[in-house]
Amino acid sequence: MNLYGKKVLLRAVEAEDIEMVRQLTNQPDYEKMIVGWTLPLSTKDQKEWYQGFQNTMSTIRFTIETEADGPVGMIGIGEIDWKNGTATGLGMRIAKKEIRTKGLATDAWMTLMRYAFEELRLNRINGSALSYNAASLRVCEKVGFKVEGTQRQAVYKNGEFHDVVMLGCLKEDYEQLLESNHYWEDAN
Ligand SMILES: CC(C)(COP(=O)(O)OP(=O)(O)OC[C@H]1O[C@@H](n2cnc3c(N)ncnc32)[C@H](O)[C@@H]1OP(=O)(O)O)[C@@H](O)C(=O)NCCC(=O)NCCS
Repeated sequence: MNLYGKKVLLRAVEAEDIEMVRQLTNQPDYEKMIVGWTLPLSTKDQKEWYQGFQNTMSTIRFTIETEADGPVGMIGIGEIDWKNGTATGLGMRIAKKEIRTKGLATDAWMTLMRYAFEELRLNRINGSALSYNAASLRVCEKVGFKVEGTQRQAVYKNGEFHDVVMLGCLKEDYEQLLESNHYWEDAN
């Protein structure tokens, strides 16, 4: 099912989206900002990944699309645990730098939260970000995540170890946020 936010559409990942992801994944300034790391990603490897990929009961990925720019990024949840009602945020990214800081990631997260809490009946989303990734931490704060701890020196990049901030958003955090910002009230 497609998910409609106020600024973005979250839809299934299509073959034509994966080159955008491959190019972003190979950019050093992107890798610098993410908790994970990758080997150089070829077109062949990316196509093979896509051929083996499908949304499942444990992982759901979306392409973020806007009316003006088409496919602009990705978001998702993985490690879905249906007994405990938990999942972990996956790969939030806006590929085109010129359209960052316009609220697209925030809207994508709000849309995904609504789906996770009001349709999938989840109760908690886990998140993490490098301690210096101010944009990611700000988006997380804006959509209701709370800082729950720090994994000290958990990631090595650029010649140094860096802390990873551990975050969580409960259904009740999301609901409290909606009470204060009425996010969906002016939505179509
Ligand atoms: C993180 C990312 C997805 C945010 O996307 P976005 O569409 O720009 O996010 P939004 O516009 O919804 O919100 C960004 C917020 O961070 C703030 N921000 C951006 N860069 C910042 C910086 N260097 N320092 C402080 N705040 C910053 C923006 O001002 C905005 O907050 P505001 O609305 O209070 O002004 C995007 O920067 C990205 O793709 N980065 C590379 C990949 C990445 O880091 N992914 C997250 C891995 S954990």
